[in-house]
Amino acid sequence: MNFRAWRGYALIALGLVVLGVGLYYLWPRTFWSEAEVITLRSLWIGSLPPLPPDPSNRYGDDPRAAALGEDLFYDTRFSSNGEVACVSCHLPFQGFQDALPLGKGVGTTNRRTMPIAGTAYSPWMFWDGRKDSQWAQALGPLESAVEHGGDRTQYAHLIAKYYRSDYEPIFGPLPDLSRLPAHAGPVADTEASAAWEAMRPEDREAVTRIYANMGKAIAAYERTVMPTQTRLDRYVQAVVENDYLAMQTTLTSDEIAGLQVFIRYGNCTRCHNGPLLTDNSFHNTGVPATEGLPEDTGRAAGAQQVLADEFNCLSSYSDAVPEDCDELRFMLAEGDELMRAFKVPSLRGVAERAPYMHAGQFASLEEVIRHYNLAPAAPAGHNELEVLNLTATQIRQLIAFLKTLSPEINFYKTPGTVQ
Ligand code: HEC
Ligand code: HEC
Repeated sequence: MNFRAWRGYALIALGLVVLGVGLYYLWPRTFWSEAEVITLRSLWIGSLPPLPPDPSNRYGDDPRAAALGEDLFYDTRFSSNGEVACVSCHLPFQGFQDALPLGKGVGTTNRRTMPIAGTAYSPWMFWDGRKDSQWAQALGPLESAVEHGGDRTQYAHLIAKYYRSDYEPIFGPLPDLSRLPAHAGPVADTEASAAWEAMRPEDREAVTRIYANMGKAIAAYERTVMPTQTRLDRYVQAVVENDYLAMQTTLTSDEIAGLQVFIRYGNCTRCHNGPLLTDNSFHNTGVPATEGLPEDTGRAAGAQQVLADEFNCLSSYSDAVPEDCDELRFMLAEGDELMRAFKVPSLRGVAERAPYMHAGQFASLEEVIRHYNLAPAAPAGHNELEVLNLTATQIRQLIAFLKTLSPEINFYKTPGTVQ
């Protein structure tokens, strides 16, 4: 080969290398349109605003209340059989849920246990939003016959016996409870509910105030349980900061393609949006009903229940003024769209918490995506989704993407020890 030909080849090779390196660095940036970069940034954990105070709970950001709430969260004495605490179903090292189709306490619930991290940002609690704050929510399972199974007078006695020195500096002196029955509350147990009816109204009020304060302490603890960084967050940070190398190395090409399906072809961000990947609202997505369970109308019933709830934002146990309760005052209370509409769950940590949906109807992410792809008619009400026609490759990529939403270190707050 003569020198000229050799030089020609060398120049072509050099040109290819320069082009290759250029593409390697530029391609990932041009992969997303400007509008999509805005969407990506909105999903980033860095876009999560500081947690606003909960005006209905003036103890929400009191560290002493959070410490008491953490103890209560783990204390099995607050149950009918001494065996159930919040932590029985909300396991910290499993994303604060239990991986069962239906939660199991003293009995079995009709719905699946929900994760807790980041729910302090949510205006509605439960799959049907029948509670409008974390403190009001906590008071549900404590008196539910199938969860903790106890009653509020029993709990007031336990607070006086074991937590007086933690409780009184925060909430003030406990009243004298010695003449009250051991068990009394507006619960399913007929003896305890008859004892409750027989109590003087001012005693019922005093016990209920202690009960509401327990909820406020538990909520103060839950407000410290926050989601942590995922690989998606590192990828979005790389996109936002134009860090091409990190863009290339944080997600695989399948995961990036899956993110593209999530945003573009699957239109998942219609409901799973913002840094918690939820719009905090209720939608009917045609999830099948489970045979053998009572009829579940979702938000249709939940909306009525939260309006009537004795612990809602407008109640006398709330610390809010009515103007703080706009979510409740202006909520959509009726309408066909509420029938079988359920709360949109955050997708952070989703790969770690099969089975899925409000009664664990789907065993795997594959089943979830196949459901979305077909958009079947809802058992009641109207499925808001449309058929997606995703290919088998797109489904595989979408699932690969959902797995990038797992916390990199399972670094939820370390559980405390029960006294
Ligand atoms: C028997 C298992 C069980 C126990 C015990 C239990 N939960 Fe739950 N938790 C569930 C289930 C099931 C749901 C969903 C129920 C529904 O929608 O009707 C839920 C929902 C929640 C939610 C709503 C999250 C959201 O995104 O709306 C919070 C918060 C929560 N529980 C906290 C607690 C606290 C605090 C305690 C203790 C006082 C507790 N749970 C006790 C099973 C349990
Ligand atoms: C119209 C609103 C809406 C759209 C669009 C939507 N979802 Fe959902 N998603 C929901 C609701 C509501 C639930 C809970 C439904 C239930 O339990 O009945 C849910 C549940 C899920 C779950 C189960 C989470 C869990 O903890 O049980 C996954 C996974 C999921 N969606 C992924 C997706 C993906 C991927 C897409 C895009 C293909 C998508 N969603 C589009 C509203 C939506």
